[in-house]
Amino acid sequence: MEGTRSLRARGYLASSQIPEEFPDSTGKENNMRLPKRWATYRCGLVLCVVVVLLVLVVFLPWFETETSKPLAWHVNNAHKKQVHELVHRVLKSPCRPGSARKSLLARLRDTTHMTQPFLWRDVPLPDDLFLYPPPFGFRSLRGNVEDLLKLLPEADSIPLPEKTDKCRRCVVMGNGGILRGLELGPLINRFDTIIRLNSGPLGEFSVDVGNRTSIRMSYPEGTPHRWIDTDPDTVFVAVVYKSVDISWISAMMKKLTVPLWDWLFFWQKVPDQIPLEPHRFRLLNPEIIKETALDLLEYPPPRQRLWGSDQNVPTMGISALNLASLLCDEVSLAGFSYNLSRQGAPLHYYDHLHINAMLKQTSHNVDRETELLLSLVREGAVTDLTQGIHCSFCPS
Ligand SMILES: *[C@@H]1O[C@H](CO)[C@@H](O)[C@H](O)[C@H]1NC(C)=O
Ligand SMILES: *[C@@H]1O[C@H](CO)[C@@H](O)[C@H](O)[C@H]1NC(C)=O
Repeated sequence: MEGTRSLRARGYLASSQIPEEFPDSTGKENNMRLPKRWATYRCGLVLCVVVVLLVLVVFLPWFETETSKPLAWHVNNAHKKQVHELVHRVLKSPCRPGSARKSLLARLRDTTHMTQPFLWRDVPLPDDLFLYPPPFGFRSLRGNVEDLLKLLPEADSIPLPEKTDKCRRCVVMGNGGILRGLELGPLINRFDTIIRLNSGPLGEFSVDVGNRTSIRMSYPEGTPHRWIDTDPDTVFVAVVYKSVDISWISAMMKKLTVPLWDWLFFWQKVPDQIPLEPHRFRLLNPEIIKETALDLLEYPPPRQRLWGSDQNVPTMGISALNLASLLCDEVSLAGFSYNLSRQGAPLHYYDHLHINAMLKQTSHNVDRETELLLSLVREGAVTDLTQGIHCSFCPS
């Protein structure tokens, strides 16, 4: 397992520091060899205990989720058939160029400039990017961002999915348990661009979620520990939520280990590698998140302090919807649902959490997001394939 490798690497690091101190001290105090040896022994013991504790703290939560089985969930066949018919209709109907962005523009305050989805090596950064701290901007981080930009590709260097003239249909794959058992995989695979979020796995779940990935969008703690996308066209879109995330992204691009000091600032173990070439990395323009929060969700501007608990950070799903509107012509959503009335339903399609776990989180305003999604679905800006935002054919 990936974890054990870095675990051992840390052990080596810790013990290799001890021999370095030995020659100096033992040479000086030959006659006190026994107490001295006991002292170093004790030192080593303390170090071992510290390392073991650290490992327990850092790795335990992760092992727990690795071993837990997904919740059982049954889907009614008639419902499944209706969902499949809906997805077929979406795929068969004529594609409407620019339709998703057009709908979102009506909600933006500043429609005079075209929001850039990503930041590139050769495109200068606008000053207002430094107005707010992450995830809404890069305040006080100009140096760090400019260093990272040097690693990123140039805007025009590579022919990638975002750059064709064809009318594109995107699907944003939420990680909701509502995907379980619907067996939408083969239909999902037929969309032009498939955007996946955080560690949303494939493998045994491919029957429900497909196996192609055009974009995987994530922040460090949400990124899969073992890379799961076999699609050779996958692009990784890094999202910066805090300053240390910039350092992690550059370590991943340079194929270096994450600096030990940085580990203190992650709230969960982060992956130590992403097996993609540098030209497959993208840095999400924080303006996408700012626009989602201030314009689409109409949250007040982030304040100097307290912004973490203000519930003003949009979820990755709704930020991905905004990104998709820039990359694609039509946007569909799948696996989006925060319906707390679905008692006992799985929160995610891949783990053992119940939907009620959503009540415990405090950084996102779920009600406001649901309201926005509902109105976007109603006005036809996006299509809700799995019917978790608004079910048009469910018995009520
Ligand atoms: C997805 O699955 C199909 C059928 O098993 C296979 O032919 C295809 O190569 C897979 N694609 C990826 C990207 O893994
Ligand atoms: C939420 O779940 C309940 C119970 O399954 C269902 O009756 C209701 O229609 C769902 N709401 C939405 C918006 O899908």
